[in-house]
Amino acid sequence: MGREFVDLFDRWADSYDDTVHGVDDEYREVFSSYDAILQAVANGASGNVVEFGVGTGNLTQELKAKGLHVTGVEPSAKMREIAREKHPDVSIIEGDFLDHPPIETGVDTFVSTYAFHHLTDEEKKTAAGHFFTALNPSGKVVFADTMFIDETAKQRMINQALKNQYVNLAEDLKTEYYSTIPVLSEIFKEAGFEVGFVSMNSYVWLMTAVKE
Ligand SMILES: C[S@@+](CC[C@H](N)C(=O)[O-])C[C@H]1O[C@@H](n2cnc3c(N)ncnc32)[C@H](O)[C@@H]1O
Repeated sequence: MGREFVDLFDRWADSYDDTVHGVDDEYREVFSSYDAILQAVANGASGNVVEFGVGTGNLTQELKAKGLHVTGVEPSAKMREIAREKHPDVSIIEGDFLDHPPIETGVDTFVSTYAFHHLTDEEKKTAAGHFFTALNPSGKVVFADTMFIDETAKQRMINQALKNQYVNLAEDLKTEYYSTIPVLSEIFKEAGFEVGFVSMNSYVWLMTAVKE
């Protein structure tokens, strides 16, 4: 579920690493401090880790560097191919946030970067419930993604993108399911988590949700 953007990622896979490293003007600010963002997520993780929306495996690299045991879940075949090439030692399975083969090990941390916005708020609610059920006691969800303080802030960023003639970015912001912090906070609180947010750049926030 929530796979309507996967074709786009099959097409983007070969040039994705160039984009995150600032080659594309439109997305430079979205990916600003990319390496620090991945490191912040890896620093928040512990134990057995499941990573959703692995992409080309850049967060996987940071998690491995911390000596963590990682299982990757990725719906795009092209992205899986690249990630598996980079990380032949990691199990990277076909699946998504809501539908994936059972994870054999207990899960201490669910991590993800730049991916949770592919789910609608309703799907995010379902996913948060699954995370709570699947996590070990005191388990955590550590996600970094684009989100906004409120709808006015989101509209301001869309207007700014249009003013800069960043039509692809503006279209993304309008059509993908970027949530506001109050909405995400409510979703994770209702699922049973204590949740906090830290700003990483003008689009991306780090969200840490701990099982109470
Ligand atoms: C912008 S990329 C982020 C890749 C990587 N995590 C990073 O930080 O560079 C988004 C990734 O999420 C994946 N994705 C799309 N829909 C998804 C879903 N419903 N569940 C899990 N992953 C999804 C895409 O295939 C893509 O690999």
